[in-house]
Amino acid sequence: MAANDIDVFANEEKRNLELGGHVGFDSLPDQLVSKSVAQGFSFNILCVGETGIGKSTLMNTLFNTTFENEEGSHYENEVHLRPQTYDLQESNVKLKLTIVQTVGFGDQINKEESYKPILEYIDAQFESYLEEELKIKRSLLNCHDTRIHICLYFIAPTGHSLKSLDLVTMKKLDSKVNIIPVIAKADTVSKSELDKLKIKIMSELVSNGVQIYQFPTEDEAVAEINSSMNTHLPFAVVGSVEDVKVGNKMVKARLYPWGSVQVENENHCDFVKLREMLLRVNMEDLREQTHARHYELYRRCKLEEMGFKDTNPDSHSFSLQETYEAKRKEFLVDLQRKEEEMRQMFVNKVKETEAELKEKEKELHDRFEQLKRMHQDEKKNLEEKRRELEEEMNAFNRRKVAAETLMGQTLQGCSQPFKKDKDKKKLTCQTVTQAGARLFTYHRSHQCSRHVQHR
Ligand code: GTP
Ligand code: MG
Repeated sequence: MAANDIDVFANEEKRNLELGGHVGFDSLPDQLVSKSVAQGFSFNILCVGETGIGKSTLMNTLFNTTFENEEGSHYENEVHLRPQTYDLQESNVKLKLTIVQTVGFGDQINKEESYKPILEYIDAQFESYLEEELKIKRSLLNCHDTRIHICLYFIAPTGHSLKSLDLVTMKKLDSKVNIIPVIAKADTVSKSELDKLKIKIMSELVSNGVQIYQFPTEDEAVAEINSSMNTHLPFAVVGSVEDVKVGNKMVKARLYPWGSVQVENENHCDFVKLREMLLRVNMEDLREQTHARHYELYRRCKLEEMGFKDTNPDSHSFSLQETYEAKRKEFLVDLQRKEEEMRQMFVNKVKETEAELKEKEKELHDRFEQLKRMHQDEKKNLEEKRRELEEEMNAFNRRKVAAETLMGQTLQGCSQPFKKDKDKKKLTCQTVTQAGARLFTYHRSHQCSRHVQHR
């Protein structure tokens, strides 16, 4: 077809065709409905609130069932999230419901980082959806969509306004998820206090720029109810799974010594409003907002981070191929730079180690030389000492020999006079003996003569 033909064709007025009879494409919405019903739906609720604030009870009350509940402890070191998925069915509509609860929220002394695990969890769900989207073989319809569609933020009924933890957390989450704030355990506050608390909370949210979910008012069918419900935020809720007989009806209520609080009585609390808005009127809008607003924002930031752009600086549209090539080149340059850096680092490290080893070798060598010198000196000293000792030994031996010789000579010289002495001594003894005997004889004879004289 030539260019002129196209212009002519474009200038032609649109032709309106009149149907001759019923064709049947008005059944398209029905086809869509039956297809969606067959596929089933997924809906994911995130409950953020302090331990024991009534999260599980409210979920049980909302879905009129008892989900498995695990009581949280007040001694968790950090906040973590616990997702639980249930397959529900009402009429012929199947719903894959995931309830994610915060565990340990508000229990730490330092609460600065409490919002982080929640943010990370929400991002992780977006990430896994994006990964599925970017797969060559993708099956978005069959994969379980775990993106959070609604965050119910539980505000404690005690206190005069929001805590800083509430404000910080909601502020961090508002661009990631639809937030509906609820005042938990509303039966513990008087009506006038509740009204004041609601006004205070809303004014604080506005003054801190926290964007909460607004029920949509574009669709005429729900515009009125939604705009009226927007004025009731934050909803003051009461949860209970207890059936109590009121009049001749069994209702969900909390019994007190002075009376009962009926969960589904709009004069007692906003539970019914919440259920209507969340499940009956705006469930699809919540799912849509999650996809079109929050996920879209996440996806855009992520793809931009990865280098994808819709337009280049000259405002020409970028093709995927060009973006891929540009990113690949950038990546290769980066890789080469990193490789070069690593190589240089390795070479430097080797050089450093080599220098260190050389230094050590030199030290060892010096030490060896020193030891060798010491050893030689010691050896020399010992040699010296040995020589001295040998000399001393020789001198001693010489003296010994001389002494022995001298002694031998002395002994020989002394042996003659010794014999003469012996003889002399013998003679002397004989002489003495003889003289003694003579003296004795004289003495005896002298004694006898005296004796005779006397007689
Ligand atoms: P964790 O999972 O342990 O963090 O607690 P939770 O936030 O799930 O609270 P849960 O639903 O287990 O309720 C804790 C206590 O609060 C229970 O004793 C409930 O009966 C009570 N409770 C729950 N909802 C309400 C309510 O609306 N009003 C009052 N007064 N008490 C409630
Ligand atoms: Mg719980």
